[in-house]
Parts: sequence; structure tokens; C-alpha cells
Amino acid sequence: MTYEEAKAKLKVFGQEHLLHYYEELSENEKTALLEQISSLDFSYLKEFGKRSLPQSRGEISPIRAMREQDIAPQREKLSETGLQAIRDGRLCAVLLAGGMGTRLGFDGPKGTLDIGKTRSVFIFQRLIENLKEVTDAAGTAIRLFIMTSDKNGAETRSFFKKHDYFGYPEEKISFFVQDMAPVVDDAGKVLLETPGKIATSPNGNGGWFRSLAGAGFLDLLNREGIEWINVFSVDNVLQRIADPAFFGAVLESGFASGSKVIRKANREEKVGVMCLDDGKPSVIEYYEMTEELLDAKDENGEPAYNYGVILNYLFRIADLTEIMNSRMQIHFAHKAVSCLGPDGLPVIPDAPNAWKFELFILDLIHELSGCLPYEVVREKEFAPVKNKTGSDSILSAQALLEQNHITL
Ligand code: UTP
Repeated sequence: MTYEEAKAKLKVFGQEHLLHYYEELSENEKTALLEQISSLDFSYLKEFGKRSLPQSRGEISPIRAMREQDIAPQREKLSETGLQAIRDGRLCAVLLAGGMGTRLGFDGPKGTLDIGKTRSVFIFQRLIENLKEVTDAAGTAIRLFIMTSDKNGAETRSFFKKHDYFGYPEEKISFFVQDMAPVVDDAGKVLLETPGKIATSPNGNGGWFRSLAGAGFLDLLNREGIEWINVFSVDNVLQRIADPAFFGAVLESGFASGSKVIRKANREEKVGVMCLDDGKPSVIEYYEMTEELLDAKDENGEPAYNYGVILNYLFRIADLTEIMNSRMQIHFAHKAVSCLGPDGLPVIPDAPNAWKFELFILDLIHELSGCLPYEVVREKEFAPVKNKTGSDSILSAQALLEQNHITL
């Protein structure tokens, strides 16, 4: 992109100030800045005015979940269906590892954290060990795509290489980098990180399929006849990946997607639960729940909105491809971001000074025709590492791993 083209692109969004220091930059810095302007999607900015509007909702009604007691008697049969489909090459997996892990405050990609006590047990290692249990049983490895961000991509790749991909076939692992979004100040002006670099942040976990496709992997999936993707988060160290029974259940259901869910621990638990929104599968956040929804009961007398999502989904690739370019809801996060101040000097804020734009994977569900909520037992499959201390921390995850007989 030339300087003139960059200026024209910025003008459309009222962001020409990003070229303010252009003349002072070295030749390399000039090229890098023009490249950044060329590749960055500024269309997020159009939504900035909507940041304080509540999310509009349709009519909320319950969705039927496949409960643990429905699953138990048919688990073997479902597993066989899933394993056969895995052997037939119909499934791949996507690990979402592009997050910043700010709550944990660990200096490095979250997956490189060692949660072992007497030996090294890296989070990435745990996830690969879980996946291998299934691929060993199936007698074939599935493709694993790992999404990183600009911020943690190089470190993640070299970590996997250094650890020999934890025994998973290297040729089955591919990395791709998620898209970044510009970061703006309270007035909606995009910030500079340095005179030659625009401040950006990962665009949330909802844009993963577009980023996967943008990296050219859709052709590969189609060529190899892979039909389904199991997408999962980096932080749940107990989750079953490519779980054959889950896969079997979703295949038999005929739905375009499936979501692993856990029963809410109590009425007030702060977890997004599955529902129907104007008849389409959706996730309603805990802060959107009214007293009426909290008290609603299903035909068995159980809470009607009782199944929380744990970020482990199955999606049919054909359906994702169809909706890939539809506009997703943008979420706004007010954060403290180091940047260049108006006087050209670096600012290191201790309070939120900037807005980040994020897409959420749970919004993807609503675009699809159907979803099977599939219950898993919390104590066996849910041990997230999110916080430094307290709930969902390293300590609580370690306790759950030990409870499940995993040596740390
Ligand atoms: P979280 O919502 O927990 O975000 O991500 P986070 O960035 O990891 O952590 P905090 O909120 O800053 O403490 C859930 C999953 O989505 C991935 C994360 O890596 C994790 O697996 N994710 C999140 C991405 O891949 N990209 C993103 O931009 C955000």
C-alpha cells in the first residue's frame, strides 16, 4: 500500500492522525506502518457509537439439553459412532490460544504455564495428552489447528517445537494467527503504540473461523473431506477433546453444532447458559438473566435455564462457511493500554483509557440453525485456569486434576 492509499483508507474512518509521525520514521518503519494500515480492519470503528447500548434480545425460551442421565445408557454406542467418524477422517480440532490471559497475569502464553508439582505439566501438554487418549483409541491422529495472536504466536510455536509437540505427530499440527483489531481512545480515535505502530489487540475468540479460512486452511479441510471442527479453549485442563461420545451424539442429533455444557452449581452461578432466542440456539449471559428466567422450570421441575457453556463446541464446517461473512456482534472492553500520548510521549495508564473490540464465539451459535447442548460432569471435565487465586485458579485446577487421578 502506498502512502496515498493509506491516507485515503484512514480518511474514510477519520483516522489520518495515524500518519502524523510518518516523515520521522525510518524506511523500514514506514513500510511496516503502511502494511499495518493495509491489513487492519477498521470497520470495527463504525460500531463504536453502540458501545453503551444493551444487547437486543428476541424472545427467550428453553432449549432441550442432552442430560448426563440421557447420555449414560447410550454412551458406548455414541462413542462407537464418534470413533468411527474420527477414523473416517471427518473431524479436526481447533485450539483457541490467542487470548491475553490478563486475569492470570502470567508472563507468557497461558498454555506454556507449568501446573505440575513433582514434574512438569504444561497446560498445552495436558491438552495434547487428552486429545491423544482419543486418537490412540481411534488409531489415527486428527488435524489440530492452534490459533495464536500476533502477541503470542512465535513463543507458542517455539514452545511446541521445543517439547516435540508433546508426542503428537508434528505434521498434524498447524498454527494460524487470529486477526487483530485497532484499539481506540474514549473519543474513538485509534491509538498509536509507538510513532510507527498502531495499537492493536486480538479481536476476541469469535473470529477464529474467518482467521482459519484467511490463513488458507479451508481448502485443506475441504480437500481432506473433513466435515466437523471441535473448537476448545486453552484454559480447561480437564476437558475431553474430540470426545467420541459428544461427536456421536451431535452426529445422531442432526444439528449443525453441539456445545458441551455443565449443570449450574446454583441459581446465582455466573455462567452463560444455553437457551433459544427467537427459536435459534443462543447463550444468555448471567447478567441478562431476569428473576423470571432464573425461576422458570422445565417439564421435570428442574430450572429451565440450567446449562452453562464451557467453550467446547462442535461445528459443521459447511454451516460455518455459509455464515462466515455475516456481521457478528461487536463487544467493547474498556482497558488500560500503554500508548503514545497526544504530546508524543509514552503513556502507561493505571486506569482504563482505551477500548478494545472483541467478537465472542458464543455469538456464533446464534447464527446456526441448531445446537445440541450436551451435559458433562463438572468434576470430571471442567477445571479452568483463569485467575491467579480463588475459584478457577491454578490451585483449584490442580485439586480437580488430582481428584481425577492425574499425577502432577
Ligand atoms: P478468555 O475469555 O478467558 O480470555 O478466553 P483470555 O484473553 O484468555 O483471558 P483474560 O480474559 O484476558 O483473563 C477464552 C478462550 O478464548 C481464547 C483464549 O485463549 C481462551 O482459550 N481467546 C480469547 C482467543 O483465542 N483470542 C482472543 O482474542 C480472546
